[in-house]
Amino acid sequence: MNKKYTMAIILGVVIGISGCGYGYYLGFHGPSIKSFPDIHEGITEDSDCLGCHGPEDGSDDAPKTTHPAFTGCLDCHNDSPS
Ligand code: HEC
Ligand code: HEC
Repeated sequence: MNKKYTMAIILGVVIGISGCGYGYYLGFHGPSIKSFPDIHEGITEDSDCLGCHGPEDGSDDAPKTTHPAFTGCLDCHNDSPS
């Protein structure tokens, strides 16, 4: 495989990913659960998050996530509040 071909694939993948909103995976972090520490105290598992934020089985007062299939919710939602 030559270099140009490889670059074309990489570019295509990157553009494709950002176009679908999955650019989150390129390092953008979401709002932090530490903005609401009382609600989120002691929550450490992805499956817990979806109990409240899942599009179908979530609770009414929690905002629905647009990306329920992501793993590692806390990697992106556990920043210190700014
Ligand atoms: C790769 C980073 C990343 C991962 C992993 C991730 N998120 Fe997010 N999340 C974001 C970003 C960026 C936003 C802000 C943009 C948006 O609202 O779509 C966001 C927004 C949200 C919001 C707020 C939506 C709103 O309307 O205010 C919720 C709730 C949420 N995520 C829940 C989750 C849950 C639950 C998981 C795990 C299943 C998860 N996120 C995984 C990056 C991520
Ligand atoms: C017991 C239910 C519950 C669980 C479990 C839960 N949340 Fe929440 N979360 C809420 C509620 C309710 C709010 C809204 C708080 C408000 O707006 O006053 C919220 C707010 C958020 C926000 C802020 C959204 C915004 O627009 O600012 C994010 C991000 C978030 N939660 C992510 C997560 C993640 C990630 C997990 C798993 C580690 C999780 N939550 C687990 C109930 C829950």
